Amino acid sequence: GTAGGIDRYEITQRETTAEILPGTRTPLWTYDGTFPGPTIESRRGRPVTVRHRNELPVPTVVHLHGGRTPAASDGYPTDLVLPKAWPGGAHGMHMSGMPSMHDPRAAETRLVRDYTFPLDQRPTLLWYHDHRMDFTAPAIWRGLAGLHIVRDDAEDALGLPAGDRELPLMITDRAFGAGGRLRYPALDPSLRERPGVQEPYLAGVLGDVILVNGAPWPVHEVDAARYRLRVLNASNARHYDLEAVTDDGRRLDLVQVGADQGLLAAPVVHRSLPIAPAERYDLVIDFARVPVGGRVRVVNRLGSGRTRDVMAFRVARKARDGSRVPRVLSSDVPVWRRSEAVRVRDFSFRAGRMDGGHGWLIGGRAFDPARTDVTVRLGDVEVWRLVADVHHPVHLHLVGFRVLSRDGGPPLPHDAGLKDTVSLRPGEAVEIITRFDGYRGRYLFHCHNAEHEDMGMMANLEVV
Ligand code: C2O
Ligand code: CU
Ligand code: CU
Repeated sequence: GTAGGIDRYEITQRETTAEILPGTRTPLWTYDGTFPGPTIESRRGRPVTVRHRNELPVPTVVHLHGGRTPAASDGYPTDLVLPKAWPGGAHGMHMSGMPSMHDPRAAETRLVRDYTFPLDQRPTLLWYHDHRMDFTAPAIWRGLAGLHIVRDDAEDALGLPAGDRELPLMITDRAFGAGGRLRYPALDPSLRERPGVQEPYLAGVLGDVILVNGAPWPVHEVDAARYRLRVLNASNARHYDLEAVTDDGRRLDLVQVGADQGLLAAPVVHRSLPIAPAERYDLVIDFARVPVGGRVRVVNRLGSGRTRDVMAFRVARKARDGSRVPRVLSSDVPVWRRSEAVRVRDFSFRAGRMDGGHGWLIGGRAFDPARTDVTVRLGDVEVWRLVADVHHPVHLHLVGFRVLSRDGGPPLPHDAGLKDTVSLRPGEAVEIITRFDGYRGRYLFHCHNAEHEDMGMMANLEVV
């Protein structure tokens, strides 16, 4: 609804079941009863308030990924929306800002939280998902993820494919057990003690069923025309290298028009496109290059067997196409020069020991909500040098950044534009540059392999 110059939404987080695999019902945790949750569409600079009501059996936290959001609404991992029945003294209850359990008025408000998003930012595909400390990965796995699209007049005027020819695609993988239940190894007591299980869990949890917008390997009917595909990898840990292949083995161009944080300055053409967890790519594909009746399969070159297939398009009919991909897409992609940076910081993303067990660490330390890891001054430009042991998709809250270099060389073609998540490949050093502007307060940066994040690979960023 709209009231007083602010768009208001209400979302109830609740349990439900859905038919994902034919003939079975999968129990899910959802935003408003669907997986993915409802897609919210907003205009740039028009604030949105989303009231989240928690009817799940566990505390939750909502984060708008890619949003430029004041800290109070950014979904800090201990800023919980409590469930009806939750014992006092539970995890996270000691944190500041938590209403007292003995205050009857607080007892009502703690079940509900209003998140306010100014959305004073470049238009792009954002996503909202759970961010509760230590439990983000299983919560997302059970269904707590949805899309939030921000638009503006300049982008609308470009003439990119729109309406039915614009398709947001949330790609995830899941594993299913008996009766359609989701399998998540760490929560499955029958698996927990078995040797050999800890290793795959450490690497992050993979499923063998690929879902696009919650449906397994969907086939979508399209016109013989250009389509705008707004791709999000919402998988906990799976990486994809996407290509679009016709029946006769031709690869269609993936024309990239946007990155995590909005339109590129100019299109970049890819034959295949790597996409790490939490990354988004805004792509145009021209199905007019396929005969009517033909098929285009979207495949993951990193998958094998049935995880190689992602989805397919069937070209159903000839059609008029008034869309276009302009040579100049945007003139407001920020460019920061290395010489503007007032500081260079180094962060290692590596496995290590924590609490006597195995964890994932940034700069040798596991996440601690009580410790400030990095303090930056509002408005400062900084270069961050990120070094990885294995594959880590690194995400910064609050700001978009540019990729400056990979292993001392230039960035790769898919690093173009303004990003909020960068895929560090095994053994790689990547430099990013950004200006820390927008809001003061406490934010996060972390690995977006959701299991790595839960196992400590997250740090506090204080903007002062
Ligand atoms: Cu997509 Cu800190 O999150
Ligand atoms: Cu985020
Ligand atoms: Cu990681």
